[in-house]
Amino acid sequence: MRTALAIVALLALTASGTGVLPAAAAETPPAPAGAQSTSPGLDPVTGLKMTGDWEVVRANCVGCHSGRLITQQRGTAEQWLTMIRWMQAKQNLWQFDPATEEKIIAYLATNYPPGKSQRRAVLSPDLMPPNPYSGT
Ligand code: HEC
Repeated sequence: MRTALAIVALLALTASGTGVLPAAAAETPPAPAGAQSTSPGLDPVTGLKMTGDWEVVRANCVGCHSGRLITQQRGTAEQWLTMIRWMQAKQNLWQFDPATEEKIIAYLATNYPPGKSQRRAVLSPDLMPPNPYSGT
């Protein structure tokens, strides 16, 4: 994870050419209000949808792992809270003041709500490769 983060940071550096580290992402201009309501732009560094309180999430949620771990996940407010409580209990995630936590949960539940299952449908047996362990 650390290596991946370093590479991302390096790429951001090279691309911007400014020599200013995380500022490269911070200076990305927000999408115009009209465009935002349909499909918010994605932050090139974290992959987070740049809408609402996304910067609060960026500040608190991508220090330990890639933003991809977040954006590929889906959940209700309750499910997101459960994931946060788990990280707080097991992964050294810090405590949030209630207002910050509310913003994070609202952002996540709004932008990454439960939806269509991310898993592919089961293949029918005739589309499967032969089973090498079947012994036939
Ligand atoms: C202090 C470090 C730390 C911070 C900060 C942190 N996490 Fe995590 N998180 C982890 C670790 C460690 C894992 C497990 C990583 C793995 O499985 O590879 C994890 C896993 C996850 C997962 C995957 C859970 C699953 O069931 O697969 C999600 C989603 C997630 N974090 C979201 C967040 C969000 C949202 C925030 C901000 C509120 C956040 N993380 C902040 C340490 C952190």
